[in-house]
Amino acid sequence: MAHWHVCEGTWFVGVDALLNDTAGRVGGSEVLSGRAVDFLRDDLGGWPALHRAQVSVIYPGYPRPRDGESAGAFRYRQMRDAAHVDGLKPVGPNRRRHPQEFHAFILGLPLTDVGPDAAPMVVWEGSHEVIRAGLREVLDNHDPKDWHTVDVTDAYQEARRTVFETCTRVPLPARPGEAYAVHRLALHGVAPWKPGSKGRPDGRMIAYFRPEMADRQDWLISP
Ligand SMILES: [Fe+2]
Repeated sequence: MAHWHVCEGTWFVGVDALLNDTAGRVGGSEVLSGRAVDFLRDDLGGWPALHRAQVSVIYPGYPRPRDGESAGAFRYRQMRDAAHVDGLKPVGPNRRRHPQEFHAFILGLPLTDVGPDAAPMVVWEGSHEVIRAGLREVLDNHDPKDWHTVDVTDAYQEARRTVFETCTRVPLPARPGEAYAVHRLALHGVAPWKPGSKGRPDGRMIAYFRPEMADRQDWLISP
């Protein structure tokens, strides 16, 4: 999996890296369960069969530039936590954003015990409603089956600007045994690893589940 090391070795992206089954079992463990799972199942649209989790590992020194990243994009990684909404994929030479993955939620499960300033996930509180409103202005004019062909760059960038101006940036340091559930439309990112933070040789490691929704229409409409 060496190809998953990016940002000059300070980030292991680790898509599909965990050998879990569809119930979240790893190596004979129990089925994945707990308050976060209950919440996602009961209040956020259900609990689907799970894919192999992403194992995202950040190391001291993050961020360094990602391969081919422009100076502006690297500055955004440093100053704005590389904040993004999942699933809005860059298409073509101008990297115009198109909705091409429709996740039900983001569930983060910390796997290492590190300090609170060791590159925590950050989320902009309430941003999912700002992003939802911005994207609906464009996507409500299209059949959901065509959404992946719609350029939402301008609406997304404007909504993101509003989020930076009006929403609170909330770092989410968490320890093994804890979990966090992030709304699929929330603006989120990764804070830099603050020098001197309590770390470990195996870094700040988090397993992420981001299962696809059964019906992409729910991506904008359901809770
Ligand atoms: Fe993300």
